Amino acid sequence: MCGIFGIVYSEEKADLGKHLYKAAERLVYRGYDSAGFAGISENGAVDLRKDAGKLEEVDKHLNLREIRGQRGIVQLRWATFGIPSKENAQPHIDCKGRLVSAHNGNVVNTAELIRELSSRGHTFRGDNDGEVVCHTVEDFFNRDNNLDEAIRKAYRVLKGDYAFVIADSRGKGMFAVKKGSSLFMGIGEGFICASSDLPSILQFTRRYVHLYDGEYVEFDHSKFTIKSLETGEKIEREPEVYSGDISSAEKGEFPHFMIKEIMEQPSTARTLITYIKESEEPREFAREIKKTRRTYVIGSGSSFHASLMGTYFLGRIAGKLAIPVVAGEFIERFQGLLESKDSFILVSQSGETKDTINVLDFLQSKGYENLYSFVNVPGSTIHLRTKKRFPIMSDLEISVAATKTFLNQVIGFAGLASLMTPGNPGLKTLEKLPELIETTLKETELQIRDLASELKDFNSLYILGYGENYPAALEGALKIKEVSYIHGEAYYSTEFKHGPLALIEPDQPVIFISSNSHPEKIISAINEVRVRRGKIISVSNENPSIRLNSDVFIPIAEDGFFTTPILSVVILQLLAYYLAVERGLNPDTPRNLSKTITVD
Ligand code: G6P
Repeated sequence: MCGIFGIVYSEEKADLGKHLYKAAERLVYRGYDSAGFAGISENGAVDLRKDAGKLEEVDKHLNLREIRGQRGIVQLRWATFGIPSKENAQPHIDCKGRLVSAHNGNVVNTAELIRELSSRGHTFRGDNDGEVVCHTVEDFFNRDNNLDEAIRKAYRVLKGDYAFVIADSRGKGMFAVKKGSSLFMGIGEGFICASSDLPSILQFTRRYVHLYDGEYVEFDHSKFTIKSLETGEKIEREPEVYSGDISSAEKGEFPHFMIKEIMEQPSTARTLITYIKESEEPREFAREIKKTRRTYVIGSGSSFHASLMGTYFLGRIAGKLAIPVVAGEFIERFQGLLESKDSFILVSQSGETKDTINVLDFLQSKGYENLYSFVNVPGSTIHLRTKKRFPIMSDLEISVAATKTFLNQVIGFAGLASLMTPGNPGLKTLEKLPELIETTLKETELQIRDLASELKDFNSLYILGYGENYPAALEGALKIKEVSYIHGEAYYSTEFKHGPLALIEPDQPVIFISSNSHPEKIISAINEVRVRRGKIISVSNENPSIRLNSDVFIPIAEDGFFTTPILSVVILQLLAYYLAVERGLNPDTPRNLSKTITVD
């Protein structure tokens, strides 16, 4: 989804464009279709270069890296308002070319504002909501020449959730505004920057400042002032120092971030499991959840699949009634059924997903207090706005498709369920998990590569799971769709005969995830496909009968209620990755997708 970055240096920089390019490279993982840079020189000259296309392509014909200046703004756009085009690409300039701005998020009253501002003489070059932000601020700025005031007035007019940076080319410094979309400040030696994304800041400085919704900040190269958008009052906040591992933002020797992140899983799992075992915080989290009536576990995409798997763990291990809900359907389905004794766990890698934030807004507006989160990005909106947080501890995840963050979300739930159970028996199993993930990766990678080359030309793959393996099937199918563009579809194994079986033709591959706790359920599903001459691929704990009934058998290193679904996801992640590679695709940036979906 769109990414913005603005920086102010102490002096004119001949290599400003190169710095901006480095920032942009860290934003690309969010997903985008247009790229643009603006450089503002000490003398007020604005150099604006932007177009639809990938960053490298736009740089190739517009030489983005040659931009000079003292202040710079970057925007990578993921189209929502207005088609991807040069005119709609950001940054934008106002009518006179004096104000320069870039936004992220959605201004929902764009059409109305374009009509109104045009009738007052504003010239729109495109129909993008970012341009509306620029002209709205300009409209107020024209009245009394006070940019600070103009921003606060514009905030009252611009509806929706967004963040933006804006600079007066004839003035000094820059402003950054946060209303519903993520925004961080970075404080460096001789510069200050603002960005929608922490990774783009961390390569320049580890000192950063959180901003909350309803705040804006004015900054130059050495000082910043945070204020309330409502009242204009100053807000004091000290910078923090990021202590995480920033090598996560580099590919190292790996060809893609996705495979690097898959391979990092033993280590990220170990970090989280040590935290679960040794820290008091997760115990307190577990005690609080235990006291509540029922627990709703809410997320989108992979985070929903983790939520679903988590509710199996909470139900079966801890005896806790936990209801998994897709974030987008929560309000419609459960409003009117909630009680103050209920608890709500919001699950989100980014902590910025709009569907999930809508749930948070709803719950807060109704006064529910037991709001918890499982979030990977510290300082993100969901992280900051929930009472207790279970940190996912996966470091930065760059590839659009979630892998290591999904795994740590489910490990987090396995830990939580274990901590809610007297004697915490599940912790022993969790301790072994990092090694089992490592063994799985080592022992199955070659077999999966071969399988991927065999399956690469199929249009559809079905993945079936029973019980706690069903969420693993869903997650595997999602990974396959996202990165290989093969139609991967997951079914609860007993449901397959109720319709989808009609699609089975000779050689159609069907993947079965199976554990030894209920092999008979899978064997009957296997047989239904087998007699119709489908191709049987089993991802299974060692089981002679399943082996015998399979065309391809991929062994899961150890059987167990947590281990089978978790390890089978690792195997399916590898399969999705190698399918993408076999099909000549870049799995890190799948078409049409974005890592952080900050719009409805
Ligand atoms: C996007 C991403 C998915 C992700 C989903 C939820 O659609 O492409 O990979 O699972 O958002 O994101 P979250 O950050 O809330 O986990």
